[in-house]
Amino acid sequence: MAKPLQSAWSDPSPKLAKVARQIAQSRSGPIVDLACGEGRHFALFLSLGRNVIGIDIEKSKLHFARRMLDLYVVACRNPGRAHLVQCDLENDEWPVRKGVAGGVVIVDYYSRRVVERAATIPAQDGAFYLQTFGGQGGNWVSLPHAGLVRTILEECGYEFVFYRERAVGPVGRDAVSVHTLAKRTRIPREPSTHTEKSE
Ligand SMILES: C[S@@+](CC[C@H](N)C(=O)[O-])C[C@H]1O[C@@H](n2cnc3c(N)ncnc32)[C@H](O)[C@@H]1O
Repeated sequence: MAKPLQSAWSDPSPKLAKVARQIAQSRSGPIVDLACGEGRHFALFLSLGRNVIGIDIEKSKLHFARRMLDLYVVACRNPGRAHLVQCDLENDEWPVRKGVAGGVVIVDYYSRRVVERAATIPAQDGAFYLQTFGGQGGNWVSLPHAGLVRTILEECGYEFVFYRERAVGPVGRDAVSVHTLAKRTRIPREPSTHTEKSE
């Protein structure tokens, strides 16, 4: 990664940086960074020659990401290509087809609906990485209950490299933060839907 330019972006998540090579291993399609914000994780994958699709709802963040990318591409020899798309992941049609991505990355964003859709995007051999925010303040209200993300991924044909949950929020509310990396080893015909106690 080109250091001076990465420092123009905020630092990437150290947890994601640790496993970026594993995520980039799939020889399938692009790495899709969902709710990518200003694109602080793009360089992790572009520097490995992988193409990236960054998706976010906020135009201003994507503009910043584009400026950083232009500098990054000039400074790097053989970076992958990046494609940025403004999209409301909750309500719009997604600009990526099912079963084609080399990997999906979601950092500091969680919605059950988005995780369910995101899990269908990787190809067989693709990766799924999720690092939710913690349960600070009232954040725990938006986090899943224990086991939900595990079930979604298992039903979409994933095996776990690791899967970690941490209980957050008031005792008895069964909310967890989730950090997981999983590989898609099969693509079931029709992933089923789930019921959740609270989102
Ligand atoms: C806490 S930031 C995390 C950004 C990035 N993943 C990172 O780690 O730097 C959450 C991001 O989710 C985006 N976001 C929120 N709701 C969204 C939606 N419905 N569709 C797409 N992006 C959304 C926000 O614009 C913001 O950039």
